[in-house]
Amino acid sequence: MRPDINGQTAVYGIIGYPVKHSKSPQFQTAAFVSLGINAVYLPFQVRPEDLKKAVEGIKALSIKGFNVTVPHKEEIIPLLDELSEEVKYIGACNTVINLDGYLKGFNTDADGFIQGLKEILPEVHDKKFLIIGAGGASRAVIYGLIKEGVQSIHLANRTAGRIHRIIQDFSTLNRFVYRIIHPLGLDEIESVLPEIDVIVNTTSVGLKDEDPHLFDYSKIEKRHTVVDIIYKKTPLLEAAEKKGCLWQDGLPMLLYQGAKAFEIWTGKEPPVEVMRRALTEK
Ligand code: ATR
Repeated sequence: MRPDINGQTAVYGIIGYPVKHSKSPQFQTAAFVSLGINAVYLPFQVRPEDLKKAVEGIKALSIKGFNVTVPHKEEIIPLLDELSEEVKYIGACNTVINLDGYLKGFNTDADGFIQGLKEILPEVHDKKFLIIGAGGASRAVIYGLIKEGVQSIHLANRTAGRIHRIIQDFSTLNRFVYRIIHPLGLDEIESVLPEIDVIVNTTSVGLKDEDPHLFDYSKIEKRHTVVDIIYKKTPLLEAAEKKGCLWQDGLPMLLYQGAKAFEIWTGKEPPVEVMRRALTEK
């Protein structure tokens, strides 16, 4: 029951296709309720071919802000009026604020990843990272790490070309990026593990039971911190737990990207613990 809904209720939401699995409505709603903000947050299923119409509709209906998920994170960019720095580098947008019909896009995944990681590893800037994957999620993670001042990122991907694109694209963010990011093939991961502090999987490998392992997980050492941005305990994380490593799944990143979006929309400090409870309760 939301007896507070009335003629002045602000509308926020998430667009995606599909969108029914999104956890954002439950924790964004909890945040609005907790701070007594007169707003709702709804899932909007938008087919790829309808994205432009949906964005026009958002403006026409004065929807105050929205999140963007798969498959619209890249395609929405040309439909926006202004982009934050992260969106330009990452090449994907997950949060939009509607300022009287003027749409400004943000990407809160980088901030979400860093805030989440800091829960288990408060100091990140002096650590050596292995990032697996070079898609949109990887770009957000790398943007966050470079902004934190991280000096060593081994970047492993099945397709080498995507790593080189990242290095090229990020060279204006940090002119030493050629020295920070070290390209790797997946078959070279095991050879760098002895010099790595933090292992991050940004690929979708591990989501399905039949997925292959990205490398020999028995090579993980207790001193490694292991993060998988998938929202469950993947075989990579199971191996890390077995070794006694610090480890984390994708839920903290999800929580903090949502918290940052909430802050952008409302200008208020997000009630992170309320949002966490709403996210983790069934
Ligand atoms: P996202 O936006 O979630 O990052 P994406 O841009 O499609 O999604 O990127 C997916 C990443 O997972 C890529 O790094 C991809 O590797 P390629 O660049 O070689 O395609 C990686 N990936 C997906 N399936 C994989 C598999 N079976 N083995 C290894 N890497 C895989």
